[in-house]
Amino acid sequence: MALSKQEFSRRRKALIEMMGAGSIAILPSAHEKARNRDVHFPFRQDSDFQYLCGFPEPDAVLAIIPGREHGECVLFCKERNPERELWDGAIVGPERAPDMYGVDDSFPISDIDDILPGLIEGRDKVFYSMGFDAQFDARLMEWINVIRSKVRNGAHPPGEFVALEHHLHELRLFKSAEEIKLMDRAAKISCEGHRRAMKRSHAGAFEYQLEATLVHAFMEEGARAVAYPSIVGSGDNACVLHYRDNMAELKEGDLILIDAGCEVDHYASDITRTFPVNGRFSAEQAALYQVVLDAQLAAIAEVKPGNHWNHPHDAAVRVITEGLVRLGLLQGTVDDLIANESYKPFYMHRTGHWLGMDVHDVGDYKVGGEWRVLEPGMVMTVEPGIYVAPDCAAVEARWRGIGIRIEDDVVVTKEGCRVLTEAAPKEISEIEALMAG
Ligand code: GLY
Ligand code: MN
Ligand code: MN
Repeated sequence: MALSKQEFSRRRKALIEMMGAGSIAILPSAHEKARNRDVHFPFRQDSDFQYLCGFPEPDAVLAIIPGREHGECVLFCKERNPERELWDGAIVGPERAPDMYGVDDSFPISDIDDILPGLIEGRDKVFYSMGFDAQFDARLMEWINVIRSKVRNGAHPPGEFVALEHHLHELRLFKSAEEIKLMDRAAKISCEGHRRAMKRSHAGAFEYQLEATLVHAFMEEGARAVAYPSIVGSGDNACVLHYRDNMAELKEGDLILIDAGCEVDHYASDITRTFPVNGRFSAEQAALYQVVLDAQLAAIAEVKPGNHWNHPHDAAVRVITEGLVRLGLLQGTVDDLIANESYKPFYMHRTGHWLGMDVHDVGDYKVGGEWRVLEPGMVMTVEPGIYVAPDCAAVEARWRGIGIRIEDDVVVTKEGCRVLTEAAPKEISEIEALMAG
């Protein structure tokens, strides 16, 4: 189900077109990170690097060189090593990389100091994402300085450094059909995890047990990673936006907020559902929940080509503010409360973010100082919420400690949008029916 070689080649072509002749782009892979002695965190390839070549190993560097006679896409990578491979599994090696990953040319990473300055020499522009990897920044400057030291021999060092991420992230913002397929799969698996977690919930269970249910569903379906640490917050914990402790016991009468999504082939899903521990909403919980759901549906209705990034947020803020006034948690006129941001103690975050290889994906939200206009192929989350702090003195006690968020993943289509995460129930009646069954 992984992406085709043609997909990677299309991406490189698009980048090459943006870069133009006389340029070179240089990208390092991610590094392995130590967790403790002899143990590493699971390796996750750098998203930009992955986007352009799909090469799965650390200790690699990719160079894209428009118009280079012996191939425009050059990969430096580890050499094969039977002894290391006995311990850690197969290494691709420069001999096999072109066939396996569609790069044009490949060299041992140990030769990079000898080869890369020669590839940079004579190119005017270096496209590089500066400031994300200090060690690699310094190495790049060393390679440039090798060329500078040879100017009296006629060497031509580059005159311009361009922010690669700016161009690359514009490409990544628009998802292809193949990418949407992967995101659909991630969304489907995550929905199944949420459904199972709802069914698993009961007073006396622990937050981590619901987390285990989610991760089990993800892994069983072949998603080998979560897109971000799962948030499983019951009762007051639901009011902590990025709660990660997940250790509390579920209490009769509380709500539980689960924000969890798996990653499939480097593509994220990001879903939040909020439901009653015992399967039945109380009157207060149902009232606030319905406000959040109405806000979310109103926001989703604003996701369509021609609308801009902030339209869904504006819609959500209006419905939430109206609801808080109607229920007596805010007093005043809706327009004033919105203008004064009086809703912010209850709704303090944005209504969404781009979604893709990174859960908070790349791409500009404003262009030329204006909110970005939505176009087909963009994928975003829509995730309004209401959080009444446990110590919120401004409201009646019966509302306190209720935290609700509802989050779906949405792709902009020609006609409007499509929700990728529909299979996770969010209507009150659907949730209660699932949990009763
Ligand atoms: N899971 C993080 C977020 O919803 O943005
Ligand atoms: Mn999100
Ligand atoms: Mn989320």
